[in-house]
Amino acid sequence: MAESIRTHRLGLFGHPVKHSQSPKIHQGFAAQFGIELDYELMDVTAAELPEAFALWISQAQGCNITVPHKTNIMPLLDHYTEKAHLAQAVNTVFWREGQLWGDNTDGDGLIMDLKTKGMLLQGARVLIIGAGGATQGIIPSLLEQGVDEIQIINRNQQKAEKLAAQFDRCSNFEVATDAPFDLIIHATSMGHQGLCPDLDPSWFDQNSMAYDLSYGAAAQPFLFAAQETGACVVYDGLGMLYGQAALAFNIWFAKKPEITLT
Ligand code: ATR
Repeated sequence: MAESIRTHRLGLFGHPVKHSQSPKIHQGFAAQFGIELDYELMDVTAAELPEAFALWISQAQGCNITVPHKTNIMPLLDHYTEKAHLAQAVNTVFWREGQLWGDNTDGDGLIMDLKTKGMLLQGARVLIIGAGGATQGIIPSLLEQGVDEIQIINRNQQKAEKLAAQFDRCSNFEVATDAPFDLIIHATSMGHQGLCPDLDPSWFDQNSMAYDLSYGAAAQPFLFAAQETGACVVYDGLGMLYGQAALAFNIWFAKKPEITLT
């Protein structure tokens, strides 16, 4: 039974995972508590996932799940949390009483980071650009914080409408009079091609924060454009990456690590 194993064996399933920062982040957290950790990277395709996951997890305490398996993993688990259910995605797997559970810490990781950056979410007006899995993953946590409304704008408008219809206080962005917004979140995958969505100056005012869920080079096109278009402050998603990892670590070890972005 995996729960009785005392070695701290964790890892990440995704495709690709070679450049993942998760081993470094989790080793850093583990060191804060003197925990010995073996954090492995498992690069598997969707076809390989069921067998590879079943074999590996039976001898581990848990794992993280990243793109493109956050939804693929769900049928392989016994239970998932309300957050994972609403997000229709799992990024953290753990054992409880011999059963495999899936949680999603991405949205709460974002919230942790936004609060660190001084964002007041209660009553905030939020625009999210993009309507894929990343957007669905963060909406439940934003709503839980009492944001006033979330508008979603997307290349494929029907997809934005469909996603918005699943949640309270969410709608498809249609008219510029809905602007400006307190928080503009970029959640498309365009930055990975060096691209950025068109931004409208009316979305921003002197208090607007622009936040890209990606980090590093992939976040730069949006952050640069947002600054040029009128955002007050701009941030990439590195803090969210650390936040989701810290929350996963707390699920596995019941310990809250200090976060230092590196
Ligand atoms: P997922 O599999 O999670 O849906 P994805 O296919 O990478 O992720 O797309 C994420 C988001 O990026 C989507 O909102 C997608 O827009 P569409 O729904 O219209 O496909 C958006 N996106 C990706 N490439 C884009 C591009 N070149 N221009 C505009 N939006 C883009």
